[in-house]
Amino acid sequence: MGSRVKLQNYYRSIGLPLLVTWVAAKLLVGEPVQGATLKIGTVFPLSGQQSTYGEESANGVELALEELKSKDPKLAAQIVVVKEDEKSNPVDAGNAVKKLLSVDKVDLVLGSVASSNTLSMVAPVLEAGKILVSHASTNPEVTKKGDAIFRTCFIDPFQGTVLANFALKNLNKKSAAILLDHKSDYSKGLAQYFEAAFVAGGGKIVAKEAYEADNKEFRTQLTKIRSTKPEVLLIPGYYQDVGMIMKQAKQMGFKVVMLGGDGWDSPALFDLAGPAVVDHYFSSHFSVDDTDPAVQTFVKAYTTRYKKAPGAMAALAYDTVFVVADAFKRAGDNSSAALKKAMSSVKGYKGITGTISINKDRDAEKDAVVLKTQANKAVFSAKVSPTSP
Ligand code: PHE
Repeated sequence: MGSRVKLQNYYRSIGLPLLVTWVAAKLLVGEPVQGATLKIGTVFPLSGQQSTYGEESANGVELALEELKSKDPKLAAQIVVVKEDEKSNPVDAGNAVKKLLSVDKVDLVLGSVASSNTLSMVAPVLEAGKILVSHASTNPEVTKKGDAIFRTCFIDPFQGTVLANFALKNLNKKSAAILLDHKSDYSKGLAQYFEAAFVAGGGKIVAKEAYEADNKEFRTQLTKIRSTKPEVLLIPGYYQDVGMIMKQAKQMGFKVVMLGGDGWDSPALFDLAGPAVVDHYFSSHFSVDDTDPAVQTFVKAYTTRYKKAPGAMAALAYDTVFVVADAFKRAGDNSSAALKKAMSSVKGYKGITGTISINKDRDAEKDAVVLKTQANKAVFSAKVSPTSP
């Protein structure tokens, strides 16, 4: 027998049993033999201090998948979602993502919200050779960790600049104090970028005080800040803390215009702060007042289904599902190489939170809005584009 024939016989002898085993395995786990499936693992803060973010994120994902079913049933049928709760802290976020990667064997991770929590998810995702897309984490470090990490939201150097310019130009304020959460990457970053832009624009920082996420008492810091007579007070924190800070400031009779970032964007802020919430400003990703028909259709669909208006978080998660689904479709495959390439080339996707294009840093450059707080809601005040913050 020639060596070629021997080799052919050898391949035939191992090839057929291998093929039979593979088909049987596929049938056993119930996967279609043909057509790739995209397994998405979502990591959101479904419980704990940031739970309204988790709730809105999960709703946004659910609503998007529901709509995808009618828009592109074939694509929708190829997407599977496995959900995990990161309980509003970095340790559980890391554990949740490790479980999704090793047990569920997801192809792509969607999440999380707080930048510190997403930052603790990045290493396991990179080690597993998978992809992460965050819909909401704005700290610039997140996507710098590796070329498989993407986001569909803007970043904090832009958000900080938007807030500084709003204070200087729209409100005509020249002195600011900052009260930040010194353990949160988001809070520290936003404070730093605000300060840089505010000082560059001719403003002065007169006080800087810190707290931690579990604190319930802010009167010491507020007393110190009040003594420096700032014209505005930047609180780059999340709604739970901000709500309490607003309430305690009002109880002390400390009147000052407060400014914040997207971390304020939660219906719970209004409940927590009560009457102390009115006439402050925060930057965010989306406004329910936007007259764009697509935005209004989304607001209506969300409100009908969940019996409350959507915040930025719901809109971000909703948009991100469509961006990821479209990237998967263009990739034609669930391999990380193909998904990475498709995610890198997202261009001009018209979403609810603005037009999404992924730049060379794997971030989205898009408009921010500034909203003004009123008794029970935030109303549109300004729109700012990344080219002229
Ligand atoms: N940008 C925040 C962070 O990075 C998270 C957030 C996004 C909160 C949007 C509210 C709305 O930590």
